[in-house]
Amino acid sequence: MKKINIAIVGCGAISYVTFPGYLKHPSSEIYALCDPLPERARGAAKSIGIDPIIYSNYEDVLNDSKIDAVELLTPTHLHPQQSIDALNAGKHVSTQKPIGPKVSDADAVGKVANNSAAMFRVTENFLYYPPLIKAKKLIESGSIGELSSIRMRTFLGKLDPNSLITPTEDAMKWRGNPKDNPGGLLYDSGWHKFATAIWIAGEAESVSAIISETDDFYLEAPAAVIWKHKNQNCIGILESVYASEMKIRGKYYPVDDFFEFQGSKGSIWVTRSTGEMYDLPPVMLFKGNETHSFNVPSDWLEGFNGAAGAFIDSIIEGKQELMDAEMAKHTLQLTLAPYLSSNSKTHVNPSTILD
Ligand SMILES: NC(=O)c1ccc[n+]([C@@H]2O[C@H](COP(=O)([O-])OP(=O)(O)OC[C@H]3O[C@@H](n4cnc5c(N)ncnc54)[C@H](O)[C@@H]3O)[C@@H](O)[C@H]2O)c1
Repeated sequence: MKKINIAIVGCGAISYVTFPGYLKHPSSEIYALCDPLPERARGAAKSIGIDPIIYSNYEDVLNDSKIDAVELLTPTHLHPQQSIDALNAGKHVSTQKPIGPKVSDADAVGKVANNSAAMFRVTENFLYYPPLIKAKKLIESGSIGELSSIRMRTFLGKLDPNSLITPTEDAMKWRGNPKDNPGGLLYDSGWHKFATAIWIAGEAESVSAIISETDDFYLEAPAAVIWKHKNQNCIGILESVYASEMKIRGKYYPVDDFFEFQGSKGSIWVTRSTGEMYDLPPVMLFKGNETHSFNVPSDWLEGFNGAAGAFIDSIIEGKQELMDAEMAKHTLQLTLAPYLSSNSKTHVNPSTILD
């Protein structure tokens, strides 16, 4: 069977956890790497032992008829136009999160995607992270009864120069520019948690938040967000905290997460994602008088591998893969709502955010 030729566009920090999933899938070929800094693309190719075509101009990727699909790992504000251009060139598109900085970007991409024979999806590694998949299956099988709360906590710890992923200097430049990036940590990392909540319990209808104003545009911690899911008695809570002197165990970067799903019959904990801070099994089910542990694979890379594999499979099978433009729009609205709520000190309905 012909392999799917993929071009990976943007060879910055996140490319290194994206390559392995495409390298290991039997039907995918990393055919090209593209970066305006070609030495960065060449360095990436060398580090993973492949010899792809190197492009420094995205247009050349779009004009290469041998390329079937693109994986966009570029700064977020470039995602909408690059997604639209690739779809118009007949390429399947997987773009890193978020779909773009504005809700109107999500609408524009969604409109082109809906009229295209090519597939569009936003890569959301948390939806392929085995501990969260296990938790979702347990919830769906009724293990904890009726879901009433999703509680999530993100920790940013002491920066560690030995982390596998260290942001490039320019990565912090575009992240720190409010024109290109509407929020800091709560937007960048919170997106994953909001996506997870929507995946498990559907859209939110009301959001309240307190976000600290810090000297550092990016940090914005401590922050707390609460929301209610639509058409059910289930709330969500996300706390984002910074522990500047706390070293967080883990290979990738000094961030970790904790999830608690509470139901009428019990609760489920997922005790890690990027880091490995807790000395606990990755998934635990508490039923009041009994506890079950599930030692599913929990390395953070698993989510990226799952996302890459699912994209290739979905192209081969011609089916839409998570997350589509509609879900990406709801996730963006829920990610932006806390900022409006914290500034206005009011509850915000995410569906009213249209720009
Ligand atoms: N899923 C996750 O956990 C996760 C983690 C980090 C970043 N991300 C997302 O990945 C994306 C990239 O983040 P990063 O930290 O790797 O950023 P980065 O700045 O390190 O890398 C971006 C790369 O894109 C290149 N680039 C810039 N303009 C380009 C263009 N026009 N065409 C091709 N390449 C271009 C840059 O030279 C750079 O090498 C962001 O959207 C971010 O939100 C996701």
